[in-house]
Amino acid sequence: MKNPKIAFITGITGQDGAYLAQFLLEKGYSVHGLLRWDWAEGTDRLKTLGIEDRLHLHHGDMTDAGNLTRLIKAIEPDEIYNLAALTHVQVSFETPSSAFQANAMGTLNLLESLRILDMPKIRLYQASSSEMFGSAPPPQNETTPFQPCSPYGVSKLAAYWLVRTYRDSYGLHASNGILFNHESPLRGQDFVTRKIARAAVRIAAGLQDALALGNLDAMRDWGHARDFVRGMWLMLQQDAPDDYVLATGEAHTVRNFATRAFAQAGIKLTWTGVGLNEQGADSKGRVLVTLAPSLFRPKEVHHLRGDSSRAREKLGWRPETTLDGLIREMVEAEQGVLEDGKEPPFPQQSAAA
Ligand code: GDD
Repeated sequence: MKNPKIAFITGITGQDGAYLAQFLLEKGYSVHGLLRWDWAEGTDRLKTLGIEDRLHLHHGDMTDAGNLTRLIKAIEPDEIYNLAALTHVQVSFETPSSAFQANAMGTLNLLESLRILDMPKIRLYQASSSEMFGSAPPPQNETTPFQPCSPYGVSKLAAYWLVRTYRDSYGLHASNGILFNHESPLRGQDFVTRKIARAAVRIAAGLQDALALGNLDAMRDWGHARDFVRGMWLMLQQDAPDDYVLATGEAHTVRNFATRAFAQAGIKLTWTGVGLNEQGADSKGRVLVTLAPSLFRPKEVHHLRGDSSRAREKLGWRPETTLDGLIREMVEAEQGVLEDGKEPPFPQQSAAA
């Protein structure tokens, strides 16, 4: 029997890492992952998907270049997916230096390892982000000039350019996936979609009085993470490396997402008031959603809507889950958590989110 292909995923314990590991296992890959010894969430997501025992997990850290080099030499992967990052935009305003260390320096460490080890068969996927577009007007695609608005966006842009520079300078098969927001029941609770889905279900069950949010007018292009990890893999199956936007092409406000998620949980929200006094109430006039100034970002990205024509044409990629399908899955997962009576996994990382 032919030996399986070997994949090495940094950030395997996150939402995308878990779905990607599952996807690659189904394709017959041998999957290795980098596990930070102090990572609070541990391997919860891998357990939820029932794949933890089928993976090879190695302790390590993106900021430790020697550790990365030794691991890659030992694993001899065919494909590396660099998903490890400090991914919360708001948190990156609080801890900009560690965001830069993990996201930019971590990627540089990985690229230097590949250069030093000189293992040309390895293909690299870099998790770049639509946050790099920042305030550039939509729709954004691979040729849109970047205008990042946060330490997170700038750190991801540095990593993006490092990947391109190493690709051009040393001939690495390295591709940037510029991914717009992608969500799922495995999302951390401090990202807005999971925060809303969880609150809608808990409010409907009488376990929570209200939900505080920040900017309701922000528009995001939300897809399902499961669709997006398929796109990551497709990028590495191409003969030549390139950079690709993955997006649904539809954008909605946070307010619209909340309205739909509450409706899915059985609550019809009506919005009244303006600015910080805006609020969402149910049909009995009970105020269920309020605004909290602390949840607004120092600088906001107002409107992200991706044009993924290149990925659709060259990779044959397209998202399969609709926004309503995504919301249904997220709300039903929260309802399942309540029925189980267990504390929900993937807890909140930051008080400011
Ligand atoms: N987290 C959060 N919490 N966001 C809120 C809240 C709140 O209470 N209220 C409003 N928002 C708004 C944010 O200001 C932002 O405009 C939008 O909701 C989405 O916020 P997040 O879910 O935190 O995601 P993000 O868009 O900042 O970043 C995510 O997507 C990027 C891709 O564009 C992250 O996954 C990044 O890592 C990823 O690169």
